[in-house]
Amino acid sequence: MADFNSEFWHWYIAVLTVASILACVWLLRWMTSGFQQSDEAETTGHVWDGDLTELNNPLPRWWLGLFYITLAFGSFYLLLYPGLGKFTGLLDWSSKAEYEAEVERVEAEVGPLFARYAQTPVIDLIKDDDALRIGERLFANYCSTCHGSDARGARGYPNLRDKDWLWGGDPQSIKMTILHGRQAAMPAWEAALGGERGVDEVTQYVLRLAGRPAIEALADAGKTRYDMFCAACHGPDGKGNAALGAANLTDEVWLYGGSITRIAESIAVGRNGQMPALGEFLGEPKVHLLSAYVYSLSQQQ
Ligand code: HEC
Ligand code: HEC
Repeated sequence: MADFNSEFWHWYIAVLTVASILACVWLLRWMTSGFQQSDEAETTGHVWDGDLTELNNPLPRWWLGLFYITLAFGSFYLLLYPGLGKFTGLLDWSSKAEYEAEVERVEAEVGPLFARYAQTPVIDLIKDDDALRIGERLFANYCSTCHGSDARGARGYPNLRDKDWLWGGDPQSIKMTILHGRQAAMPAWEAALGGERGVDEVTQYVLRLAGRPAIEALADAGKTRYDMFCAACHGPDGKGNAALGAANLTDEVWLYGGSITRIAESIAVGRNGQMPALGEFLGEPKVHLLSAYVYSLSQQQ
């Protein structure tokens, strides 16, 4: 692979650029020399249709002027800013340094504000409209790609506006979720349930748990399997377990869809939703504001 930091490419680019500029100057001078100071234009000797002659006029002055100005500007720019190979320019400007300065400026501005909010408990922050507005903007930046700009989620991405929580909806649990992420682990059950028939039976039992019409004979058989394989995580009553992120199966809120096909699929192949850990990336103060915003959403209904 070519090493673009090498001395060779540095000199290659620098020499080629300077040579091109000098060549332009030379070309301009060459094209403008040799004209006599007379108002009478020379002809090139080419004549068409008997009277159409090609004249050899000097280049217009305004055009030449523009060309020289462009060359001067280019040279001056290359002297001040990076452009000639590795030469960083007399101003020592770089896009990275500019970005870093910008980030530092914003941090200095909002840092103390965020720090003040970080001292306020989430319960109190949800009464502070300014804090919630900041939280909303942070949410749009960092969370809406997965949870939707209205926080209502999508299949596989939980709705954060309802009162149904996989991992707990109190301020502390929400904050833990954002800081450290969550990894849901629901194994695939098809093999353990003895194939499709077993999945069908348990699916019918899950429908019954959810209060929907179920085929009774299948659901009865499903209950035995449910108690054996599923109750450990989802609870004997199907109400779930926030410590494991195990969904409540009785409330008709479905992360992966509530049709019979979808429920059977969840059971047969398993589900492993992952919420990324964002504490390190965002920092505690931003996570605190985000927790307040998310908590406020579920308090609104
Ligand atoms: C080891 C714990 C564990 C066991 C055992 C378990 N589950 Fe789950 N289950 C979970 C978790 C965690 C989730 C949430 C997955 C996610 O969020 O990605 C889940 C999700 C589900 C869902 C999807 C819920 C939704 O909202 O879409 C269904 C349906 C389900 N489980 C049914 C079952 C059935 C039936 C069994 C027994 C055959 C079972 N689970 C056994 C942990 C478990
Ligand atoms: C890469 C996608 C992704 C991003 C980005 C993301 N999340 Fe999540 N989040 C998920 C998934 C997937 C889950 C569900 C995990 C599971 O199945 O248990 C989740 C779960 C959650 C939960 C728990 C919901 C419950 O019912 O307990 C909260 C709260 C949450 N996210 C908040 C946030 C916030 C706030 C942000 C932005 C700072 C964010 N998420 C960014 C994918 C994402």
